Amino acid sequence: MTRVKILDKEFETSISEATILESINEVAKRVNHDLKDENPLMLCVLNGAFMFAADLMKAVTIPCQISFVKVASYNGTSSTGSVKQLIGLNEDIKGRSIVLVEDIIDTGVTIKGLKEQVVAMGAKDVRVATLLFKPESCMSGIKPEYIGLTIPNDFIVGYGLDYDGYGRNLRDIYTLVK
Ligand code: IMP
Ligand code: MG
Repeated sequence: MTRVKILDKEFETSISEATILESINEVAKRVNHDLKDENPLMLCVLNGAFMFAADLMKAVTIPCQISFVKVASYNGTSSTGSVKQLIGLNEDIKGRSIVLVEDIIDTGVTIKGLKEQVVAMGAKDVRVATLLFKPESCMSGIKPEYIGLTIPNDFIVGYGLDYDGYGRNLRDIYTLVK
């Protein structure tokens, strides 16, 4: 096991790059099969999903497009609290098959909000592809169509995921040492 120090915390390797890439190939096979006649638009949710989206796109062989979006959190004055709003989407998605490409689903709040917004914009079909899924903490009832790896409820970094902006460039995934 390799240890790294990021800011004030220690992390150690938990998922190798080879395991990550294998799981992405399995996701891609299913996307290739399920969406071959759908001309899907992949929506990569920045920042965390940039590396996953790149490797996924290399393994997807059907006609498809990719675009990049961000999530902005607004703490509104209403009692509904924090709202996650989708920004940066310039494509007309009416009638299209969309695949939301996420790094990780934890509580599921982010992806649930995004999915609702994409549906409201007139998408025909919205699927979720996430590299990592933490089922223990997923309260929102979201069931992603495509899951790379299911992981325990620990904090991780690497392969696009960060701790305070650092660690995204690590090739493997590392878990916080408690
Ligand atoms: P959710 O709305 O709780 O599902 O949170 C999803 C977002 O939180 C992800 O897109 C990540 O940006 C971030 N996140 C959740 N868990 C982790 C983790 O273990 N490491 C780094 N970022 C995480
Ligand atoms: Mg994310």
